[in-house]
Amino acid sequence: MLKPLLWKPEEGVLEVLDQRLLPAETRWLRCDSASAVAEAIAGMAVRGAPAIGIAAAWGAVLAIRSVAGQEDWRQGFDRQMAALGAVRPTAVNLGWAINRMRESVAGVERAEDAVSACEAEAARIEAADLAANRRIGELGSRLLPDGVTVLTHCNTGALATGGHGTALGIIRSAWERGALKGVIATETRPWLQGARLTSWELAEDGIPVSLIVDSAAAALMAAGRVDAVIIGADRISRQGDVANKIGSYGLAVAARAHDIPFIVAAPSSTIDPRLARGDDIEIEHREASEIWAAAGLSRAPKGVETLNPAFDITPAGLVSAIVTEKGICSPAEGQGMELLQPSA
Ligand code: MRU
Repeated sequence: MLKPLLWKPEEGVLEVLDQRLLPAETRWLRCDSASAVAEAIAGMAVRGAPAIGIAAAWGAVLAIRSVAGQEDWRQGFDRQMAALGAVRPTAVNLGWAINRMRESVAGVERAEDAVSACEAEAARIEAADLAANRRIGELGSRLLPDGVTVLTHCNTGALATGGHGTALGIIRSAWERGALKGVIATETRPWLQGARLTSWELAEDGIPVSLIVDSAAAALMAAGRVDAVIIGADRISRQGDVANKIGSYGLAVAARAHDIPFIVAAPSSTIDPRLARGDDIEIEHREASEIWAAAGLSRAPKGVETLNPAFDITPAGLVSAIVTEKGICSPAEGQGMELLQPSA
């Protein structure tokens, strides 16, 4: 199975598949410190909310190993965790994983016990994500009628998770059960996660995929070529507002206009129990140079201003279903919303 991260305990290294080079080149980065993991996340070598969380968990293991010989190991660990947690703001999985790692050492006295506690917790986080994705795939694929064509955005596959994928997990499961006709993948500017990663993952699995430019989606919906839209999420509020890759909101508006189901797939760790509304989600703004690079230009024409938000918010009213490993709720209809509330 394709995996974006490889923990090598004997070498004390997290190997990160450099997604910026895929599919042309397979190169693994060797991260031997929490700051190297932070750099890999900030620079987009590893991306996708669940994979960012898993990378951060292994980053915490590297952090605790680096301070285990020190008297004040807890302070050193906390400092490194604070820096790692600040590298990308929108995906809640980053802070969520770091909190889990901090909690795993909370009651631990000895540094060497903290190291084993962290290693066990990181392994649990990674394994639980894969299990959640398989369950999401199973549950979500039941929402799809036979012979369906699904449009998806960005990359939510094995590369973005602990394996199988979220939205792509539903697509894979639907394919396995013979319900899927094919997939339409948006290219997803400016990083081209759809063109480089999603279309590659699907083609490797033998799933028919048509790649489109982002701006073709609404016209294809109008032409009756799309039966459902399925995307992932970076953060979900308690009322079901969804932060995801820029362009998701536009897809939701177009889907509603054409009466097409708009389905969101994410592990329950993507729900932020502290957030009542999506408006409070911090949207990451990235460098203008990304826009020029995606357009094949090295420089902007003189004096041109740019805006490069990496994510947007789809309000709950446009979301037909949210599928997590715990079940399915329907924010647009206000059904099953207890699944998005903090567990008692
Ligand atoms: O900027 P990225 O590539 O990290 O953005 C990724 C997305 O928006 C995904 O849709 C989301 O993280 C879910 S991945 C299962």
